[in-house]
Amino acid sequence: MTNQELIDAAIQASKKAYTPYSGFKVGAALEAEDGTVFTGCNIENASFTPTVCAERVALFSAVKEGTKKFRKVAIVGSKTDVFDKHTYPCGVCRQALSEFCGPDFLIITTDGKTIKETPLSELIPYTFTSVDLLEQNDENL
Ligand code: THU
Repeated sequence: MTNQELIDAAIQASKKAYTPYSGFKVGAALEAEDGTVFTGCNIENASFTPTVCAERVALFSAVKEGTKKFRKVAIVGSKTDVFDKHTYPCGVCRQALSEFCGPDFLIITTDGKTIKETPLSELIPYTFTSVDLLEQNDENL
């Protein structure tokens, strides 16, 4: 899918967002290595903490279907129907993505005029991954 097509899918997904508290609607469209696209929207909660971001809804939908390899994700966010500011994943979603996506995985954002591609390694350098746990286990052997 082109970046523009993926952004359009993210905009469509944002329309399903449940945001009675912030009013900030986010949509994510995650493209797997086999070309399948999984979408997500943010879902808020009166108790705030259970709120889940659009990115994790898309990621977990994919993993639930057995898909764990990805190329890129488009993210849009806005309080209106106009998406004119780049929306980047929050810290928790960066960590969640880093479980399944390598440093070259791309985050696609837009300000309505231009489309930006940012590698995951730029958004979460020195990320904690399974490799850290494996090394730690080795020392304990
Ligand atoms: N949100 C996302 O869905 N993704 C992000 O990357 C940033 C934040 C949501 C969570 C909450 O519903 C609203 O945006 C305001 O923080």
